[in-house]
Amino acid sequence: MNDTIERLFQKALHARQNAYAPYSGFTVGAAVLSETGAIYAGTNIEEAAYICTHAEQSAISQMITSEGPHKINAVMVVAGEPSDGMLVTPCGHCRQWLREHNNDPQTLIVYAAGPEGIRRSWTLEELLPHSFGPQNLNKHL
Ligand code: THU
Ligand code: ZN
Repeated sequence: MNDTIERLFQKALHARQNAYAPYSGFTVGAAVLSETGAIYAGTNIEEAAYICTHAEQSAISQMITSEGPHKINAVMVVAGEPSDGMLVTPCGHCRQWLREHNNDPQTLIVYAAGPEGIRRSWTLEELLPHSFGPQNLNKHL
């Protein structure tokens, strides 16, 4: 793992420890790498009516709150147990959030990790092909 990816992993791993997931018991940590080089982490936050904030959305919210909207070059998602081998990728809605903050889905790398490390990676284009985005609304953001 190169240094930036290692930091992305550590921040997502740490954020996961702060998850508020009393209903599902499923904790997720995420970290996004901004085009500025800064890393922002987030975790999932549930409530009794089951309308949850997902870890990826928390991380993107942290980025926008801290430095305004910027493009994202990578996202790390950490979930599961060390030996379960499960791949946890961003859900459909989170993929669309990632799409919103990256104009070229071929350049955004999505890492799925367990507590022991990265399990697999994809481009956003692979996870969300033929996506709908700002350009469809004639917005070149
Ligand atoms: N979860 C995320 O945080 N990110 C995803 O993209 C998938 C699901 C959270 C939401 C909820 O708190 C728990 O995982 C179970 O769905
Ligand atoms: Zn999601």
